[in-house]
Amino acid sequence: MTQTNSEPHDIRTSLMSPLRSHVVVLFGGTGDLARRKLLPGLLHLNRAGLVPGCRIVATSLEELDDDAFRALAHDACREFGRGTWDEAAWEEFAATIAYVPQGDGADALAGAVGRAEADLGGDCRRLHYLSVPPAAARQVIAMLADADLVERSRVIMEKPFGVDLRSSRILNAAVHEVFREEQVFRIDHFLGKEAAQNILAFRFANGLFEPIWNRNHIDHVQIDVPETLSLGTRAGFYESTGAYRDMVVTHLFQVLAFMAMEPPTALEPLAISEEKNKVFRSMVPIPPSQVVRGQYLGYRDEPGVSAESETETFVALRCEIDNWRWAGVPFFLRTGKRLAEGARIISIAFREPPKSMFPAGSGVGAQGPDHLTFDLADASKLSLSFYGKRPGPGMKLDKLSLQFALHETGRAVDVLEAYERLIYDAMSGDHTLFTTSDGIERLWEVSTPLLEDPPPVRPYAPGSWGPNAIHQIIAPHTWRLPFERAWRE
Ligand code: BG6
Repeated sequence: MTQTNSEPHDIRTSLMSPLRSHVVVLFGGTGDLARRKLLPGLLHLNRAGLVPGCRIVATSLEELDDDAFRALAHDACREFGRGTWDEAAWEEFAATIAYVPQGDGADALAGAVGRAEADLGGDCRRLHYLSVPPAAARQVIAMLADADLVERSRVIMEKPFGVDLRSSRILNAAVHEVFREEQVFRIDHFLGKEAAQNILAFRFANGLFEPIWNRNHIDHVQIDVPETLSLGTRAGFYESTGAYRDMVVTHLFQVLAFMAMEPPTALEPLAISEEKNKVFRSMVPIPPSQVVRGQYLGYRDEPGVSAESETETFVALRCEIDNWRWAGVPFFLRTGKRLAEGARIISIAFREPPKSMFPAGSGVGAQGPDHLTFDLADASKLSLSFYGKRPGPGMKLDKLSLQFALHETGRAVDVLEAYERLIYDAMSGDHTLFTTSDGIERLWEVSTPLLEDPPPVRPYAPGSWGPNAIHQIIAPHTWRLPFERAWRE
């Protein structure tokens, strides 16, 4: 396979080009992600008028025709779409969708894309969305080359990008045989969340916090993403993936990079990737002794799961970034399925003051350190907790907080769902919120000790916070969740 695309090589020339019409080629079109996020997201971008002209050519291993696929897409958009249902808008959108079974081969796919392009009338781009498991990605790349669909195209790749260092290198090499790096958009939807981008705004648009954003003032950091969800129809994918590959090596580490990176020289993709990748390079390889893997009781009875499965549905770990800013500051990460609550928080615990003049029993420190908390929920929030004086005689202290919620801006309706935002960015050629092959390979590299020698999975009760061992890895600190006080409404 040769590189056939003749566009300029400088990434900046393709940055933020005005949006052109697009044919979206959706691989994995009948899959869970397509149904929950991608099809409803494309419908929303279409309704919001953000994409000037768009045709969708969906494909998957299932033998469907256009009408059968449109029916599936209709049900998916109704179930998972946002806002009120508008049948007329749906009809308009449905008319832009075609389906080609992947088994019909490269020529059939090329034919469908050609027809969609003729409909759009000429000057359009192609966006290939690879919503397929890592093992299928290479085959899809080869199919795109065979179908001669590389020119004028960009490709969005879904995580996990490989399953370890070796496979990610092989996958990246296969991708680079066909596409130039600047055509490739490795998606991590956590970076498309409004709240994740707000970490950058909060850190770098204000003078207040950056001076204390380091080991001298920060004691430890928690990135905690418990989910109440189970697997739904994803057992096949999940069994060979597990919580670490599904969530940690992807979303949690990416969010960690936004939290820990140095100020980039500019708010542009190369500068941001450079700083994120420096964080990854400074990460200490994950020792298996600092990891707790868990599996919820009943997982092995789920349809599609092996009765002897050792796949973890939960993982908690301690990691370190051994650089000047963070040396000695532990980062505790946790995520899992069927846990007590669903939440996505980053919690930054500040060091205690060097000396306390408050008398014993005053309550200082009694409710843990003062914290800054980012809630990465769709309705995102931010809280700064601190000790303050309880009104009345004497000097008793209580934990108080300053809180901010996105809806207070009055612009919550403008928020694009993470996938919508990232599909839109990829169409515009903007890599700012995407990950790079170097960064991903480094993350697999630091994961190697764990992947080669994983600790045994420990059972945990559905509805709990994970196996008991999670308290040992974080001691003498404690997990912030469950919160001792609820967010203010
Ligand atoms: C996906 C994982 O990438 O992220 C899922 O594959 C997980 O297992 C999901 O549930 C969580 O994303 P969100 O946006 O719902 O928090």
